[in-house]
Amino acid sequence: MKALKDKILAEGTIIGSKILKVDSFLNHQIDINLFNEIGKEFKKRYANQEITKILTVEASGIGIACIAAQYFDNVPVVFAKKHEAANLDTDTYEVDVFSFTKNKTYKVRTSKKYINSNDKILIIDDFLANGNAALGLIEIVRQAKAEVVGVGIVIEKAFQSGRNVIEKEGVKVESLAIIESIKDNEVTFQMSR
Ligand code: G4P
Repeated sequence: MKALKDKILAEGTIIGSKILKVDSFLNHQIDINLFNEIGKEFKKRYANQEITKILTVEASGIGIACIAAQYFDNVPVVFAKKHEAANLDTDTYEVDVFSFTKNKTYKVRTSKKYINSNDKILIIDDFLANGNAALGLIEIVRQAKAEVVGVGIVIEKAFQSGRNVIEKEGVKVESLAIIESIKDNEVTFQMSR
């Protein structure tokens, strides 16, 4: 997606050799025009597929999923929660997710009320790195005996193992920008994407 790649090149900054900081439009301040283009592009990639809900994980996935949902006939968005809270139902689907970036395991949960066995779920997230967050969401959908239609990612880092991990589960990944490498403070995209 050209507009996204242009934005990454114009405003992204690199931390170390693996992390792309995109706080100015994706992870902190949000560029609503770009998010609308992202939503349209997801719809294009999943045109003609039946999708009853979008599932994401807090925090950064929520804004992307909500804007995208408007291009999928306003299907509901469910987000997995990372923290226990008094206002979360006690009857939940739950899975452990290991974060390589933070080097710790955390639990994500969704109430059993909001995913059921008839649902056809599109999983959406901001980054695909090692794939553990997306894998956790796939596991939640499977606990609910619902169907995973696909995983839609805004920025994939192809030099990490996320895509392999998800495809091994038999789930198709659609990423709007695929970063081949981050070297010498420069981002290189995969040719065709
Ligand atoms: P994984 O889910 O693909 O296995 O990745 P990992 O554990 O390494 O990532 C943990 C968090 O870091 C996730 O956000 C993920 O989106 C984010 N992340 C991974 N690589 C990058 C990167 O290069 N740039 C940026 N900006 N983020 C990256 P999170 O902790 O769930 O954060 P948030 O959604 O609450 O913002």
